[in-house]
Amino acid sequence: MQEAWWQRAVVYQIYPKSFKDTTGSGTGDLQGIIEKLDYIQALGVDVIWLTPVYQSPQNDNGYDISDYFSIDPAYGTMEDFEQLLEETHNRDMKLIMDLVINHTSTHHEWFQESAQSKDNPFRDFYIWKDAGNDGEMPNNWKSKFGGPAWQWDEQTEQYYLHLYDKTQADLNWENDTLREKLYDMMRYWAKKGIDGFRLDVINLISKHQDFPDDNQGDGRRFYTDGPRIHEYLHEMNQAVFKPHGMMTVGEMSSTSIESCVKYTNPKREELDMTFQFHHLKVDYPEGKKWTKAPFDFLELKQILSDWQVGMHEGKGWNALFWCNHDQPRIVSRFGNEGPYREMSAKMLATTLHMMQGTPYIYQGEEIGMTNPNFTSLEQYRDVESLNAYEEMKAAGVPEKEILAILQQKSRDNARTPMQWTDGEHAGFTTGEPWIPVADNYHDIHVKHVVQQPNSIFQHYQALIQLRKKYDMITHGDYQLLLADHPQIFAYTRSWQGERMLVVSNFYAKDVEASFSYGQGEVLLSNYPDSSTDLDRITLRPYESVIYKVN
Ligand code: NOJ
Repeated sequence: MQEAWWQRAVVYQIYPKSFKDTTGSGTGDLQGIIEKLDYIQALGVDVIWLTPVYQSPQNDNGYDISDYFSIDPAYGTMEDFEQLLEETHNRDMKLIMDLVINHTSTHHEWFQESAQSKDNPFRDFYIWKDAGNDGEMPNNWKSKFGGPAWQWDEQTEQYYLHLYDKTQADLNWENDTLREKLYDMMRYWAKKGIDGFRLDVINLISKHQDFPDDNQGDGRRFYTDGPRIHEYLHEMNQAVFKPHGMMTVGEMSSTSIESCVKYTNPKREELDMTFQFHHLKVDYPEGKKWTKAPFDFLELKQILSDWQVGMHEGKGWNALFWCNHDQPRIVSRFGNEGPYREMSAKMLATTLHMMQGTPYIYQGEEIGMTNPNFTSLEQYRDVESLNAYEEMKAAGVPEKEILAILQQKSRDNARTPMQWTDGEHAGFTTGEPWIPVADNYHDIHVKHVVQQPNSIFQHYQALIQLRKKYDMITHGDYQLLLADHPQIFAYTRSWQGERMLVVSNFYAKDVEASFSYGQGEVLLSNYPDSSTDLDRITLRPYESVIYKVN
């Protein structure tokens, strides 16, 4: 297959609410992004992904859309958006929008209509079900934000389904008119000139139509990668993506390699790439997120490697990422917040960016931002975290332990304001930030990093340049080495007679290793003087080296 442009591209994710405020409202805005476009361009990325900026009551920070055709006034106007798009294009970058079409806000006019009466023409746009004889819920599915997935409506005496918050009602994709309306809406944005979509939890849109009880889990096996999902994605591709030449990345909840191969094998014309989370569940013991736990390093290596090999063999395409707005900061999670913060940030970046796929950098990752380590509940804003607090409290978990768990796992860890300077509120706003700034902004901020030699920022620039230069990063075979080594992550990439070896020490103590490649040429390292004798190398704390080898 011919190389597609997005296979060699790198994406930068912006969470507008926390990026840059220009009005003093305490919330980031579109003009703030425009102000920082030169900074983003300097990193060397090709694409910007904006998390939702559509009109929304903001119960889930924009993932609860009430009007797909307008910009939320908190972020600016449609003119601001058009200016952002134009200025992004002027800098030779592309812009993709976040599209949330598994659900809408209950404030959306479709839902408002739908909730009027059982015979309203919009009723069938959502998933309404009768109560059981004793008023019980249609089934035992759970919301991903805690509690049941069904909400009772007094007026029309039925339940509606919400896999997320009760103000995020699931759309009924079985309805042909709804699908056409959604495709029309997507074409509206395509015609505006945007370059693609990131599709929110897109593998959940097709539900088993008999809505069975789940006696093994929370219901997800009846709507994840569901019965008509491939049909819908192909239909969407033909109706919108293909005619407009759009780049698409599907966010996948609890999916499988097999399904993702199907979603992204170009022959099937569904999506370009998938964004999945299995490698970020290695600190969820027995699948439980709300626990405080170390990460399982061997499992991390195995999962990433299985996806590398499986997607390569199936001719699918991975999105590569450590961070997004739903995940704790990666240096706090798999690296080191202390003396090795910079080393570990670079090590993690190297380990991921030399894999096959399209890398995503989440705002602040390029300067090594950490979790804020909030100490009181009042500092949290996220609906999922607040619900989890209530559930743990009700289950009798002591307050101190709950706070320690939130400190490690809350989505707010990623949502604190971008640290631009060491000035007030980290230069994010002149007002009161909607969520507290992390205390360490005095030391960790953009102004410092862009002047500093050998900064994390420069390391990301170098990784992006390597990706542009070496075909083997885009196309090569992947092989995991030392699979059972408890401290080293090592792999090779090989393509048309060229080979690179990537070796990373994931811990703060020295480790020796031996690779049968003789001498290696250092393409990039986070230490100035890495050894080139691969027969016997000593890796220092968090040392990570890319070698060109024979
Ligand atoms: C995934 C998004 O990334 C997350 O922030 C959101 O809460 C859920 N989907 C629901 O839309």
